[in-house]
Amino acid sequence: MKITFLPARLPANACLVLAVTQGPEWGAVGKLLNKKSDGHLASLAKKHQFSAKKGEVLTLLSPTGMSLDRLVLIGLGAEKDLTEQRIVEAGGTALASVPVSKLSEVYGAIDVGGKDAANASALFAQGFLLRSYRFDKYFTKTPKDKLPALKKFTVLADNAKKSQAAYARFDAVAKGVFLARNLVSEPANVIYPASYAAEVSKLKTLGVKVEVLGVKELTKLGMGSLLCVAQGSEKDARVVVMHYKGNAKAKDKRPVAFVGKGVTFDTGGISLKPAGGMEDMKYDMAGSAAVVGTITALATRKAKVNAVGVIGLVENMPSGKATRPGDVVKSMSGQTIEVINTDAEGRLVLCDLLTYTQEKLKPRFMVNLATLTGAIVMALGNEHAGLFSNNDELSQQLLKVGLSVEEKLWRFPMTEAYDRQLNSDIADMKNASNERVPGSIYGAQFLARFVDKKVPWAHLDIAGMAWTKRDLPACPKGATAYGVRLLERLVAEHYEGK
Ligand code: BES
Ligand code: MN
Ligand code: ZN
Repeated sequence: MKITFLPARLPANACLVLAVTQGPEWGAVGKLLNKKSDGHLASLAKKHQFSAKKGEVLTLLSPTGMSLDRLVLIGLGAEKDLTEQRIVEAGGTALASVPVSKLSEVYGAIDVGGKDAANASALFAQGFLLRSYRFDKYFTKTPKDKLPALKKFTVLADNAKKSQAAYARFDAVAKGVFLARNLVSEPANVIYPASYAAEVSKLKTLGVKVEVLGVKELTKLGMGSLLCVAQGSEKDARVVVMHYKGNAKAKDKRPVAFVGKGVTFDTGGISLKPAGGMEDMKYDMAGSAAVVGTITALATRKAKVNAVGVIGLVENMPSGKATRPGDVVKSMSGQTIEVINTDAEGRLVLCDLLTYTQEKLKPRFMVNLATLTGAIVMALGNEHAGLFSNNDELSQQLLKVGLSVEEKLWRFPMTEAYDRQLNSDIADMKNASNERVPGSIYGAQFLARFVDKKVPWAHLDIAGMAWTKRDLPACPKGATAYGVRLLERLVAEHYEGK
């Protein structure tokens, strides 16, 4: 879909979506429409009891005096409550409120009462784009209600140039989001460690240096923990390191680091999962996809930051070669691990990635993302990701940014008492406990054993956020790409140009 910005004027015979705040005036376009229609628009809206409440939609077909085939009003709520996210969501609601398969072009406009209008137009367009995402490549017969897709969205904006410039950044972020959603949506027979690494290698065209480490190199590095997860599979493990250098003159040369769990399919291994819902485990690589999406967004918009992305790609399968419960493995850090449960594999992958990142890449901070535990879904549902951290400042930054892009987080405690539960009778630690332990904290404490206390670190448990079973305002049901908008914004607000 092509998105452009034009100076506000009334298109003829078009479909126009107009987002409006509560109040008497509906901005330039609203005013124009009202005038052309001799106040008809205002009275129609009133008659249909449209009061521009948040999320409210009113569709008017061929409204008298407006030369439009279709006018869709989207409520933004009160002007004083307006946030960036609300505008993005209004854009998403706009896309969902027009019959996209019947139209080739849609016009849009947003009234935010003069306040940073160019930015608002750009955010509105981004929401529209984010909701338009589809993953329909495997349908051989066209589901009629779904195709064809809209070709053009034109936003009417008084300052079109300024809007277009503001939009460049949001478009880059959407590109990262779409890539992450594609990777997560692909089935595990298509996206497995080698094919996934090949996809990520394409980031080279954006000026990202991509290193792919194979089994030989991983063995040499001593990543016995990560490798023990992959050993039951026919598909060999990979670790992919993305280097994006956008700030050569940085005062602090150290990169920010994003680390992701990329289990391309999680059967549970010998501790096999039940059949019901196991197909969902194709999205057990969503943490890594968020990392790839974030690096894509940053590189596309040429962010002034030095960032690295490190993802561990493995498939967790049961077989005659698979790791058994009770096996002891040695991690890259030198610490030994008793594998109590082969389904607690994400931490076995991440611990070696964290050691690698810390030792080889010397980062300013590390944020890792992982669909780590079912327990986090029990605790927080699909509303917040779990946040675990050794650093209050980084935590505060993440919590705040999460609110502003609606990728919310909730912080959990980490203490020595929880850490003690990791002790094993045979090795330095065990990867799971058969006692009744708090599962998500246990996973986080496990990771913490691999993090140098001086390195600010945060672990985001995104098991409940990576996939949505229902449409959301700015995301159709399916893969969400949770984390891309969060991390891009974290960089933009706190680490860019410094
Ligand atoms: N990939 C799962 C966690 C998960 C669950 C992700 C639901 C997305 C949705 C993870 O590897 C796992 O199996 N965790 C176990 C850990 C347990 C064995 C200690 C779990 O949560 O049950
Ligand atoms: Mn598992
Ligand atoms: Zn898993």
